[in-house]
Amino acid sequence: MAIQIDHTGRRALVTGAGAGIGRKIAHWLAQAGASVVVNDLILERAEAIASEINTNPDRCGRAVAVAADCRDDEAIDALVATTVEHLGGLDLAVNNVGMLPPGRRPQPFVANRGDDWRDIIDQNLVLAALCARAEAESMQASGIGGSILFVTSGETTRPAPYNAVYAAAKAAINHLVSTMAVELGPDGIRVNAMAPGTTLTETVAAAFTEDRIAALVASTPLRTMVEDDELARLAVFLTSDLARCITGQFILADGGAFLSRNRPANDEGLTSPLKGSNAS
Ligand SMILES: NC(=O)c1ccc[n+]([C@@H]2O[C@H](COP(=O)([O-])OP(=O)(O)OC[C@H]3O[C@@H](n4cnc5c(N)ncnc54)[C@H](O)[C@@H]3O)[C@@H](O)[C@H]2O)c1
Repeated sequence: MAIQIDHTGRRALVTGAGAGIGRKIAHWLAQAGASVVVNDLILERAEAIASEINTNPDRCGRAVAVAADCRDDEAIDALVATTVEHLGGLDLAVNNVGMLPPGRRPQPFVANRGDDWRDIIDQNLVLAALCARAEAESMQASGIGGSILFVTSGETTRPAPYNAVYAAAKAAINHLVSTMAVELGPDGIRVNAMAPGTTLTETVAAAFTEDRIAALVASTPLRTMVEDDELARLAVFLTSDLARCITGQFILADGGAFLSRNRPANDEGLTSPLKGSNAS
């Protein structure tokens, strides 16, 4: 019999699922049978993706759109409560929101002042940790365990010039998963992270020149960019019972880019109007 990943009956929350990697994770979870809350800051985005999922003939689960700002404690608590209300519980959560917040850009380490640090750490580490707090509390209360997955970055595995703050925030999450795994393991809750390499989501594609993309591909051992569908399938696996023995880990999914010695620098090949949206 072919091995299948089956999330039938699972209740899932994906943050920042109105675009990019989160959108694909929500799609693939629904295709594997999960019911999914599609969260985004922007309601129209969340609704569009939920509707895409619900009209996809390949999906087995259903989707519900819930707008919430994951930077806000109260909004996060309400998001988890609404998820439980809509789906009847919460079995798995993917904390996908991250990146540089609006107005921030990759810049030399010495250019980062207190506001840069606080803003970028808030958008990545604090936001993800607060989401996980509310999710873990709900899973503990249910008594049936669960799975929490963070989306970090390949920037955590090699020096990240011009992205020091972002990389430090994401690297802190890579460590957080081990502490959470030890604390929450006895409740049957697994906690992991996946660390993508550069992925041409709309945000990134708009910020990178063709030359930068070509240079990234050429410098990656597999000679290809990571695709959002590939990351989504990894997320589906890591949150499934097939990965039941995996907790406290971060899994690098970057086509081997971390091995490369000739990656273009983070300030090379960014388009000027969007320069600084992200250098992942
Ligand atoms: N794309 C890459 O190259 C890459 C590489 C490594 C890691 N990552 C990580 O993957 C994750 C997703 O990246 P992406 O490229 O798909 O992003 P994206 O910009 O394409 O999509 C992010 C979505 O999150 C939503 N969002 C932003 N702030 C929010 C908030 N406060 N509350 C709720 N929703 C919010 C946005 O509206 C958007 O729809 C991020 O954590 C990023 O750091 C991306």
